[in-house]
Amino acid sequence: MMKKVVKMICLSLSILVLATAVFTPTASAADTGVKRVSVSVNGDTQTSRGFNWCTTTQTASVVKIMKEADYEGSFDGAVEYTGASAFFKDNYYHKVTVSDLEAATDYVYIVGDGTTWSDAGSFRTNAGREENFSFIAIADVQASGIDNFIRASKVLNAAETMLPNSDFTVSLGDFVNDCTNQEWDDYFTAFKDSNLNSTGVPVVGNHEGNLKWNWFNNMFNLGAPEGGATQTGSYYSFDYGNAHIAVLNTNDMYPMSQEQLNWLKNDMNKTDADWKFVFMHRALYSAGKNINKPDTVIMRNVLLPVIDELGIDLVMAGHDHMYMRTYQVKGDEVQQTQTVTELFNGVETEFAVNPEGTVHILPSTAGTKRYSLNEEAISPILDLAAKAFDTKSHGTFSTVEIDMDDESNTTRLVYKAYAFNEQDENAVPELIDSYAIKKDMGRNTVDPDYEELPETNAENIMARGFRFFNEMMKYMVLLFTKILPKMIF
Ligand SMILES: [Fe+2]
Repeated sequence: MMKKVVKMICLSLSILVLATAVFTPTASAADTGVKRVSVSVNGDTQTSRGFNWCTTTQTASVVKIMKEADYEGSFDGAVEYTGASAFFKDNYYHKVTVSDLEAATDYVYIVGDGTTWSDAGSFRTNAGREENFSFIAIADVQASGIDNFIRASKVLNAAETMLPNSDFTVSLGDFVNDCTNQEWDDYFTAFKDSNLNSTGVPVVGNHEGNLKWNWFNNMFNLGAPEGGATQTGSYYSFDYGNAHIAVLNTNDMYPMSQEQLNWLKNDMNKTDADWKFVFMHRALYSAGKNINKPDTVIMRNVLLPVIDELGIDLVMAGHDHMYMRTYQVKGDEVQQTQTVTELFNGVETEFAVNPEGTVHILPSTAGTKRYSLNEEAISPILDLAAKAFDTKSHGTFSTVEIDMDDESNTTRLVYKAYAFNEQDENAVPELIDSYAIKKDMGRNTVDPDYEELPETNAENIMARGFRFFNEMMKYMVLLFTKILPKMIF
């Protein structure tokens, strides 16, 4: 216990003194050819995608793409798009953005230099606000060593079997452990088929953000907003179906940058989508080992009131490698909800109806590092947990399905979490939690008088430093009055 206390104090002091430092990862052995291919959201999900890959020598950056309906095993009739490459940590990283696709269409593609190509990949474009959609979420692969990456990839493969028509895959951060070239090679080797054949929604974690500068943005082509810092990762947003989704960079803090907070407010206040989701790495509600640490506590103080104010329906996060789902919460209090039971895909399902507040979900981890439930989580987190448990013997994944019904003018969200024992050849995913919401459509409107907040130069370094110092002082008070006494006594 004493060791834990000393560690907490040392961590607080070291963050206070050393907010940033430089770490240079070691390079792996040379490789050749096209590798680390990803396709991800980049702007309008009906018409655009961002392609990213790397090579060890400088080559042209070319994507060949065609409708799957026209594909007969050859890319001869495909349209070619070109982009640019940049050198980073022993490799040339290629980015090509395609922005004239047709909505609701299946595409196939290859990437390469014009003569040497990757394997073929595929994705489907967003149909727009009128159509149902679904997605998969996993968190914290955070592996080191190909065997552990392969184990984690089996968890995602199980999710893809469970939800074969998923529209995109959210990875809630911490793809790798030490952010070396070898680890990224292993990640992209193990997850090759998934990354080639599903639109990715990557979230930056601390293992590819804090002190591991620029790695994340070299791995994915996301179209981050102009002016947003990309050294520690990216924040960005997109529409899918009748949802608007913001992806945060929780490394951009100490405390979270005013630019990112303003961007999030502008972004969510400008949408009238029926659903508002936020994906992020560090969790606002978790009963894991990191929740009492200064970075997370400060982020809670700064970000939670904004999430409450913006009427976010669902927040999904990672970082703490255990499972937790809150009740509907607002202002750190449970919101009472009415429910209705009706069929969803033939299954009787209980829906919270037009609930107030936000449900926060930490879907545990697809990886093999699995943490325990932290009974000392800062108050009132455990009181707000509808479910909180560790998943030591299984990897986990989550699915979200959204439908809408014009006749009743309602839209429904069904969330499910599964455990999957990736070491058992005969394992089938086991449902460990579910939750559902039903809302009237058209409840979110845009205020015509809304004045946009500045998204660049919103705060100078002095002001940010003062805000950080202020938040750290508040944390130190909390540490000595609430956190440490709870750990010691
Ligand atoms: Fe993390």
